[in-house]
Amino acid sequence: MSAGEDRIRWWQSGVIYQVYPRSFQDSDGDGVGDLNGIAARLDHFVALGVDAVWISPIYPSPMADFGYDVADYTGVDPRFGTLADFDALLAKAHGLGLKVILDFVPNHSSDRHPWFAESRSSRSNPKRDWYIWRDAAAGGGPPNNWISDFGGSAWEWDEATGQYYAHAFLKEQPDLNWRNPELRAAMFDAMRFWFDRGVDGFRIDVLWHMIKHADFIDNPVNPDWTLGMADMDRVHQLNSTDQPEVHAVAAEMRALADGYDGDRVLIGEIYLPIVKLMTYYGSDDAPEVLPFNFQLIDAPWDARAIARIIAAYEGALPPGGWPNWVLGNHDRPRIAARVGAAQARVAAMLLLTLRGTPTIYYGDELGLADVAIPPDMIQDPRELREPGKGLNRDPVRTPMPWDGSANAGFTTGAPWLPLNPDWPTRNAAAEADDPDSMFALHRALLALRRAHPALSIGDLALVESDGDVLAYERRHGEERIVVALNLGEREQCISLAEGNCALLLATCSGESRSAGGSAQRQGSGFRRSTVVLAPNQGLILQALPA
Ligand code: GLC
Ligand code: MG
Repeated sequence: MSAGEDRIRWWQSGVIYQVYPRSFQDSDGDGVGDLNGIAARLDHFVALGVDAVWISPIYPSPMADFGYDVADYTGVDPRFGTLADFDALLAKAHGLGLKVILDFVPNHSSDRHPWFAESRSSRSNPKRDWYIWRDAAAGGGPPNNWISDFGGSAWEWDEATGQYYAHAFLKEQPDLNWRNPELRAAMFDAMRFWFDRGVDGFRIDVLWHMIKHADFIDNPVNPDWTLGMADMDRVHQLNSTDQPEVHAVAAEMRALADGYDGDRVLIGEIYLPIVKLMTYYGSDDAPEVLPFNFQLIDAPWDARAIARIIAAYEGALPPGGWPNWVLGNHDRPRIAARVGAAQARVAAMLLLTLRGTPTIYYGDELGLADVAIPPDMIQDPRELREPGKGLNRDPVRTPMPWDGSANAGFTTGAPWLPLNPDWPTRNAAAEADDPDSMFALHRALLALRRAHPALSIGDLALVESDGDVLAYERRHGEERIVVALNLGEREQCISLAEGNCALLLATCSGESRSAGGSAQRQGSGFRRSTVVLAPNQGLILQALPA
């Protein structure tokens, strides 16, 4: 990640796939996915052609926030299996050439973690300072105006010891105090525990939340907040997040990971504007993490807006900083729900041809959309606490549809969330056999990335963003590949400087052709420099020597 090094690491050329373990594959009939289920489905990753699998938390947890409330950082929740199951999964994955990335949740533990039980037992307990305890404000009430991301005050009163504790999320997720050296050491030991077992990296949960302002000063009030907006947006999280001291913590994590062989990766979950995000790459002297780039999640689906984002992000990268792109995750609406089925194919081509490491959210390779959840089945604590504001994350966490058998092959029991209603046709087995499926498109895109280094590690130059067309060129050595995406529903014409081009891949057969020419099929050439894009069509073209 530091400047001046041109060795390509696996996580730079590779593609990451996110598994939400509750929803991937159940092996024991309890309706909840598990590690043996994932192990049984490793062939899916191989068939698709991804390089690494990131698994959302599998640690022992009361599941108040479905595993993001960790009660033991060095164990496996019995619902997911055992440590032996994990070791077996890791060995099997490595045997297939797949890397495994775990989710590390350092900002907060579960309130059932033994550390918190100790911490809250008395003000003089040695672990009191492992969490963030404050006296009530002078006039009574919470120490300041910080608001939990899941609504309500970020402070919970503890009657027994007469102080408040901080929780950026649920009150069942007390924030750990990373200013305490013993807590830090204990958490670094937990990272070592998994690195020693061979995990290839961590995705670090809410990294930018980890250190709070030392003086706990109020956050500025958001004058634009209105009813119907999430409660957390009442204030700007200026003092409760993104404090300068967090960078030393991230650098220490990086140094720890660098003590291991194999280029272990650290990916930070950070929702911040581009300029602030960039600071989490660290410096040559103190490299930090690969900060998740969520720009495309919030982007309006507009060619010019996306071109601006690409230019701004690429332009802001520090020297040697490697990009990455994400279309969705277990917290945000799915891409197919946001842009529709036709554009989801264009989005897949975008994600898998931009410069930088792509992360694919499970099910997106099948074109899964958000699934409507009947009111009596809602599970997400966020929705339950702030109903009706469009915050529910259950719709993007539904079971993976595998085949046409009962419960789409996900479970022999009752699935913990409903399946997508179109599962009888939208499932992995059916799509693997259908050359026009979303799965087939992903497989083709990933094969193309592997075959053409220009698409994975090549440079990127924006070519055009006019009207509904977004086009860019990827270059590596002599190779030049043009990606042209039509984000609209009307036919579009673009002029290419390249002259002769061969069509490598189209998102849909459509009517792509050179202007004035006849319809083109995949593998055929464009003899003119003007290319017509069918509605909702993306093309990958290889420039041919003149
Ligand atoms: C992250 C996770 C989210 C979780 C939250 C609290 O944003 O992605 O699912 O609820 O952190 O841990
Ligand atoms: Mg199970």
